Amino acid sequence: MRHDLFDLGGRVAVVTGASKGLGKSMALALAEAGADVALYARDVEGLKAVKQAIEDLGRRAEFFVVDILNRAAIEGAVEKTLDSFGQVDVLVNNAGVNVRKPVLEITPEEWDLVIDTNLKGYLLIAQAIVPHMLSRGHGKVINMASILGAVGLPTQVAYASSKGGVIQMTKVMALEWAKQGVQVNAIGPTYFETPLVAQLRNDPERYNFIIDRTPMGRWGQPEELAGVVVFLASKASDFVTGQTIFVDGGWTAW
Ligand SMILES: NC(=O)c1ccc[n+]([C@@H]2O[C@H](COP(=O)([O-])OP(=O)(O)OC[C@H]3O[C@@H](n4cnc5c(N)ncnc54)[C@H](OP(=O)(O)O)[C@@H]3O)[C@@H](O)[C@H]2O)c1
Repeated sequence: MRHDLFDLGGRVAVVTGASKGLGKSMALALAEAGADVALYARDVEGLKAVKQAIEDLGRRAEFFVVDILNRAAIEGAVEKTLDSFGQVDVLVNNAGVNVRKPVLEITPEEWDLVIDTNLKGYLLIAQAIVPHMLSRGHGKVINMASILGAVGLPTQVAYASSKGGVIQMTKVMALEWAKQGVQVNAIGPTYFETPLVAQLRNDPERYNFIIDRTPMGRWGQPEELAGVVVFLASKASDFVTGQTIFVDGGWTAW
């Protein structure tokens, strides 16, 4: 096994939603594999803590306060990132929100918030960063999908629609850039213990439903995305594009 296949030394990654949860743990995993990391989110305290944790690993990190609903803010942050780091090799489109409501109760505003954050935001960041990758002839885009992009659950109409969209967006991006050195893949996690799902973790009935529904019989831990994100960011995945890798303890194998 050539371990340098997974080496991210000399690479620069942008991770959105990097102030907490899965974004934080993926940013740390990329840094552990050798990457310097630009951290995007809105919560300055969270961003500062992740920057410090990456510096403690001996890698470089900078944070940029960005609302991914705001195109001008994205473009400004990408420009500053390129000025600061000189290059971007990896984009992890991870920021996301959820509003759990039955189909007949979700409001147009709630629908727009979820779809705009989870789907349009990923498009806007890719539009800002990928031209730079194409000009250099290499890049890795990693989009956060979910098992709910492939299966349904009641009360998840906006979220599942957005994540199904992420899986399709990943395929189209992959096809458009396949011959130009940019690979685009998605990660489809099951339920992982992060702030996003705090409400479910505190509800014993729903917490146990997820355990019962998962062939491996447990929730995921944020560190368990480290392997897949490093793989998709590294040379090891150079002939993999347009795919969604489910990290779900077997949920979607039913
Ligand atoms: N946890 C799970 O079980 C699970 C399962 C499948 C998929 N996922 C997906 O994984 C991703 C991360 O989820 P998580 O569980 O880590 O959630 P989380 O702990 O709630 O973190 C969400 C992140 O997204 C950022 N964010 C949200 N809206 C934003 C906006 N408008 N602009 C910039 N940043 C924004 C937040 O940063 P600020 O608040 O600082 O802006 C935060 O860093 C999401 O795409 C989610 O759908 C999670």
